Amino acid sequence: MKVALNSVTKAFGRHRVLDTVTFESEFDHTLALIGPSGGGKSTLLRLLAGLDIPDSGSLFVNGAELPQDEGALRRYRRRAGIVFQAYNLFPHLSALENLLLPLTKVHHLGRPAALERAHAVLRRFQLQDHTHKQPALLSGGQRQRVAIARALVTEPDFLLLDEPTSALDPEMTAEVLDVIDELRESGTPIILVTHEMGFARRSADLVAFVSRGGIQECASATEFFSAPRSEETKRFLEKILKY
Ligand SMILES: Nc1ncnc2c1ncn2[C@@H]1O[C@H](COP(=O)(O)OP(=O)(O)OP(=O)(O)O)[C@@H](O)[C@H]1O
Ligand SMILES: [Mg+2]
Repeated sequence: MKVALNSVTKAFGRHRVLDTVTFESEFDHTLALIGPSGGGKSTLLRLLAGLDIPDSGSLFVNGAELPQDEGALRRYRRRAGIVFQAYNLFPHLSALENLLLPLTKVHHLGRPAALERAHAVLRRFQLQDHTHKQPALLSGGQRQRVAIARALVTEPDFLLLDEPTSALDPEMTAEVLDVIDELRESGTPIILVTHEMGFARRSADLVAFVSRGGIQECASATEFFSAPRSEETKRFLEKILKY
């Protein structure tokens, strides 16, 4: 997957969260975005998801410039699998119905074809025993696996995940990270915001450090964790890896 930003600026009020960011990267499977709270990771991911547009500058995914008008953005979003915390499951729908909805309403698949696909994805994520449960009856880890299943059921070109494990205890975190790891085999590229440094180190191809209005550093996971270049990255890693 290829991602490029050309002088991208995004501000909220007077606060430039992303300030003329220019960046280019290419990776096989996973790009991890890490950095301090408020640094702009979610903002960047929302731009890449086409959920927001930059104030100025342009973004490119796999060589194509992201559109700015709502109709074209909607078409672009259909090709992206998105799991954000704010994009949670519909509470009144079962796991199965949560998966069927994007297939029938957004991708206009007939119900028999949608059912076949949804069941296959639920089986793949070992969720077949939870098919008819509403989110409230699922554990946090199961819920997040359903959210990932829903993002994947439409066979997106890539997956964008914003802290998919932040609300989970260690065991459920491991469960969800295992699922993300398995996606490596399916070949769907992933851009992931995470505070799980162990996971980023082990499973990401590239790690980008987002802070103070920009992408301060981007390197292979091995290089990033063993030989961070900037003082700020070093301090961040020291602090976060201390415990
Ligand atoms: N819709 C919004 N309206 C106003 N300010 C916003 C909005 N979204 C983000 N911000 C501000 O932009 C800055 C960056 O936010 P962002 O959510 O991108 O950070 P983050 O790196 O994802 O942080 P965290 O690790 O805490 O999730 C923050 O100061 C935040 O308050
Ligand atoms: Mg965030």
